[in-house]
Amino acid sequence: MKKILITGAAGFLGSHLCDRFIDEGFHVIAMDNLITGDLNNISHLFSLSNFEFHHHDVTKFVHVSGKLDYILHFASPASPIDYLKIPIKTLKVGSLGTLNLLGLAKEKGARILVASTSEVYGDPLVHPQNEEYFGNVNPIGPRGVYDEAKRFMESITMAYHRHHGLDTRIVRIFNTYGSRMRLNDGRVVPAFMGQALRGEDLTVFGDGSQSRSFCYIDDQVEGIYRLLFSDYTDPINIGNPHETTIKEFAEEIIALTGTKQKVIYKPLPQDDPTQRQPDITKAKEILGWEPKVHRNEGLKIVYDYFKSLSPEDLQRKEHRDFSTK
Ligand SMILES: NC(=O)c1ccc[n+]([C@@H]2O[C@H](COP(=O)([O-])OP(=O)(O)OC[C@H]3O[C@@H](n4cnc5c(N)ncnc54)[C@H](O)[C@@H]3O)[C@@H](O)[C@H]2O)c1
Repeated sequence: MKKILITGAAGFLGSHLCDRFIDEGFHVIAMDNLITGDLNNISHLFSLSNFEFHHHDVTKFVHVSGKLDYILHFASPASPIDYLKIPIKTLKVGSLGTLNLLGLAKEKGARILVASTSEVYGDPLVHPQNEEYFGNVNPIGPRGVYDEAKRFMESITMAYHRHHGLDTRIVRIFNTYGSRMRLNDGRVVPAFMGQALRGEDLTVFGDGSQSRSFCYIDDQVEGIYRLLFSDYTDPINIGNPHETTIKEFAEEIIALTGTKQKVIYKPLPQDDPTQRQPDITKAKEILGWEPKVHRNEGLKIVYDYFKSLSPEDLQRKEHRDFSTK
């Protein structure tokens, strides 16, 4: 049985990856320090003999006994609210955490895939963003802690690949949504859905003309899966190119949820990207991948998921106290 280590396994993307690799017959070692994750996302896997959970901070030395075939490094705060609250930890997990996992991959002879982000393009001057674009990032702005950590992650991963011949993959993930997200972590889809569920007005930052494109979780997981088993070692965009403005998107959520509330406008945060749309030509050509789930369909699944949660589960999805971590 092939063994895979998934870091950030109790988070949104990590938990869905655990499900996929369990379904594919892997032995999954899930690792997380639970800073933004939730054990409930993976508790349904605890009874399986081919699943183990390690409560561990990957910025500390990472040890796994026995053989290891693959590593997926997904540990990192990923939402603006999270990484603005824990900026140093965000920088550490992208830098020291990545360094530790590259070292482990080298020791074990494992293939490693690291989770980068469209944020490496910053506030892009090229649209849509293709992988050749170097980006427009403000290193000292508040978002720099996340963007630069991920840029360092890419850089050191390529250095291990070139210098040590390590078997590496880099995915640049564009906005992805699905079940198990937290409701108030500042990401657009759960933020709007949470407001609709609570009967609050939907908050749009700026005038709402900034664009985003949202990829459904199952499509994202499929893209990551295909990349891991491809032989492509340069970074590759995985996301849904179907773009919308935030204002239009808020109207879509109002129509979907039937909320009687309206859209309200607040000032745009510093360095908020004005445009975000992946060029997925490479993913199509190299991985034979493109998203399949239409936004209407995906959003309905996710809204039904949030509606089905008990009040206690919903409250847990609202609250995250970093002061105790
Ligand atoms: N969801 C998206 O749209 C998106 C977009 C681009 C990139 N990504 C990347 O995908 C990965 C997962 O994002 P997500 O949306 O699932 O976020 P998430 O916050 O739900 O999950 C991240 C997980 O990493 C864990 N973690 C953080 N620091 C850790 C540490 N030092 N040691 C061990 N575990 C740690 C958290 O507890 C959490 O469970 C991140 O690397 C993120 O940068 C996500």
